[in-house]
Amino acid sequence: MTTYLITGGAGFIGSHIAEALLQAGHGVRVIDDLVFGKKENLAGMDLEFLEGSILDDSLLRKAMTGVDGVFHEAALPSVPRSVKDPLASHEVNSTGTLRVLLAARDAGAKLVMAASSSAYGDTETLPKTEDMPVHPLSPYAVAKVYGEQLCSVFAQVYDMETVVLRYFNVFGPRQREDSPYSGVIAKFCAAALNGDEVRIDGDGLQSRDFTYVTDVARGNLLAMETSLPAGTLMNLAGGGRFSLLDLLDALERILDTKIPRRHVEDRAGDVKHSQASVELARDLMGFETQVGFQDGLELTIDWYRSFLANPSLSPQDSSS
Ligand code: UD1
Repeated sequence: MTTYLITGGAGFIGSHIAEALLQAGHGVRVIDDLVFGKKENLAGMDLEFLEGSILDDSLLRKAMTGVDGVFHEAALPSVPRSVKDPLASHEVNSTGTLRVLLAARDAGAKLVMAASSSAYGDTETLPKTEDMPVHPLSPYAVAKVYGEQLCSVFAQVYDMETVVLRYFNVFGPRQREDSPYSGVIAKFCAAALNGDEVRIDGDGLQSRDFTYVTDVARGNLLAMETSLPAGTLMNLAGGGRFSLLDLLDALERILDTKIPRRHVEDRAGDVKHSQASVELARDLMGFETQVGFQDGLELTIDWYRSFLANPSLSPQDSSS
């Protein structure tokens, strides 16, 4: 049986990768310090769980024993968090990624890395293609770009198989809604269901290529299983673009309610528009998304409805 390690596997995206791997009949090991991830995200999944940080080198090396490939999802997410605490972002997202790469190299494992559309910064041209120069606008983006470049260098210098996937605003079930640093869809869904006001940073016209999480998990499996040129880097997204006002309109339609809103200042380090070119992922591995924005939002709202009513539900008990 092929065995894969997922760093940050108890997190939002990592737990969906775990589920997809198990469904495909693979063995799964997870390392997660449960700072942002949750054990409940893995409830009912038959896998090996190691609790601890990727910064703990001996645990990390134990986690790598006998694995065929690594999905590196562990990170301190959030652009504003990194603006507030750049050192913490650096330690986990930069140093942590270097440690994971070294341990994977020594274990002879292929590595697929979760990178970010924030690498592009505020480019005038849309969609954002992989050959554009990087232009990070936040410590979070800097750290993700550093990880990408390490992947490329490890492919060249150590002949290691690495693939970098730039995610674009992933959303869906199990995304945390309860932190000041939660993603906008998680926060808006929870606020709308609780009858609370949403906070819009700036005019609400900023736009994102919102991508449903099961598509991202499937893209990860494809990247692991496809033979790709050394150090390949590609966008993994749907290729659409929706503003925050579009998002609120869609949520109001789904919930058939008016969502109260309050506009505040633009967020520091924010990107105005983001949209992926999806051609490379299509050409290299036949990747197409299967869940569109509207369908994904409906699934997400259904999940938050069950989750907020009973937060201890396991993933299998609620729609995912
Ligand atoms: C960024 C990256 C994304 C990465 C993510 C990790 C870009 C384009 N995207 O997401 O690839 O995975 O970091 O954390 O850089 N907002 C509100 N009200 C809220 C919350 C957010 O108006 O309550 C606004 C933000 O100011 C921003 C937009 O919504 O303009 C999206 O914010 P968020 O969901 O935090 O994601 P990004 O920072 O775009």
